Amino acid sequence: MPDQAVSRDGQWTTDWEQVLAKRTARMTSSMIRETLKLMSTPGMISFGGGNPAPELFPLREFQEACRYVLEHEGPASLQYGVTEGYPPLKQYLLEKMRKYGVPAEEENILIVNGSQQALDLVGKIFLDPGDTVLTDGPTYLGAIQAWNAYEARFVTVPLDDDGTRVDLVEDILKREKVKFIYSLPNFHNPAGVTLSLQRRHQLVDLAARYGTFIIEDDPYGELRFEGEDLTPIIVLHKENTIYLSTFSKTLSPGIRLGWIVAPGKALRRLVQAKQAADLHTSMFTQMVAYDICQRGFLRPHVKRIRDTYRERCRVMLAAMDKYFPPGLRWTRPLGGLFLWVILPKGMDSIELLKEAVAEKVAFIPGPAFYPDGSGQHTFRMTFATASPEMIEEGVERLAKAIERQMKS
Ligand SMILES: Cc1ncc(COP(=O)(O)O)c(C=O)c1O
Repeated sequence: MPDQAVSRDGQWTTDWEQVLAKRTARMTSSMIRETLKLMSTPGMISFGGGNPAPELFPLREFQEACRYVLEHEGPASLQYGVTEGYPPLKQYLLEKMRKYGVPAEEENILIVNGSQQALDLVGKIFLDPGDTVLTDGPTYLGAIQAWNAYEARFVTVPLDDDGTRVDLVEDILKREKVKFIYSLPNFHNPAGVTLSLQRRHQLVDLAARYGTFIIEDDPYGELRFEGEDLTPIIVLHKENTIYLSTFSKTLSPGIRLGWIVAPGKALRRLVQAKQAADLHTSMFTQMVAYDICQRGFLRPHVKRIRDTYRERCRVMLAAMDKYFPPGLRWTRPLGGLFLWVILPKGMDSIELLKEAVAEKVAFIPGPAFYPDGSGQHTFRMTFATASPEMIEEGVERLAKAIERQMKS
């Protein structure tokens, strides 16, 4: 018998660990999913997962749009569709992108099953095993997961309050052959910081000079609750940027609807990769989302979301100022869902999480967001899901856990 089969009670069955492709060695389940399990513990206040606030989901609008689509689109809403996406939704999104100054046309846009699928498709068409991706350290965990599966190598650049330390990028580009730069310019996940306009220009110049391109991942751009919008990277260098966004943080993450804007040649390859993966994104879902959007619902709805997150972020920052002991630093986001805490060096956020869970409060330890698992003295908190009262209470509990760990 081949060594990929094992005998159980005289029957040969497949040994599933033996038959796996080598690249699966780099696939892991996310620490976030593990922490999400803690959310259901009674009395737990979780600053962990990246969920939007569920009380803001527009249930009634979805109900009405589902009925409308079934009545007016009929069988077409339940039929197979084209890989590129439902044309009216693409037109709506192109219009929206043009308002941000992105001069995209029909052949530049692809509808996907959330930005997470976009990250996977990017890995699929651009990454050979061992190819180097330049990311921030920390960066979005889902991108690390997606590109680990394609056996990428990660090189990281630190962040400060103005986003990526672009002054350190050139040295890396001189030293390494970087396939692409992964950038989260607005309200970074996990760090909550925003890339300044000057640095956006510098990053684009460096990418062009060293012959690499940029993946601009922008799920949070619309969730700015302070200050002015900054020019997207794709506007600064359209031919050298692939832009990703999503309805997950504005309408609902459960509908799994996102989009990619890319130069025509790259987009055609992404379409082929998507076709092989899942043929297309659900027509019904696209039609429902389009119906909600074209009624002009999104703009006032996003304003409500921003108002809610602004208040929750304010309450969280005020509670941290009040309760956290000296020696910690944290970011002060102008939008999005997250902020980032830096503990004194030597403290360990995974150990701290154990103390915190004993106090019935949770967060995500920093190492989850570093491709090499570093960042032990950092962690991410979300202000999006707990009520202001719960935020105040949770931060107070967390401060107790931090003080106890500092003493020990
Ligand atoms: C930076 C970033 N990119 C991509 C995603 C995936 O989003 P989607 O729900 O559209 O797949 C997320 C989700 O939290 C994210 O934070």
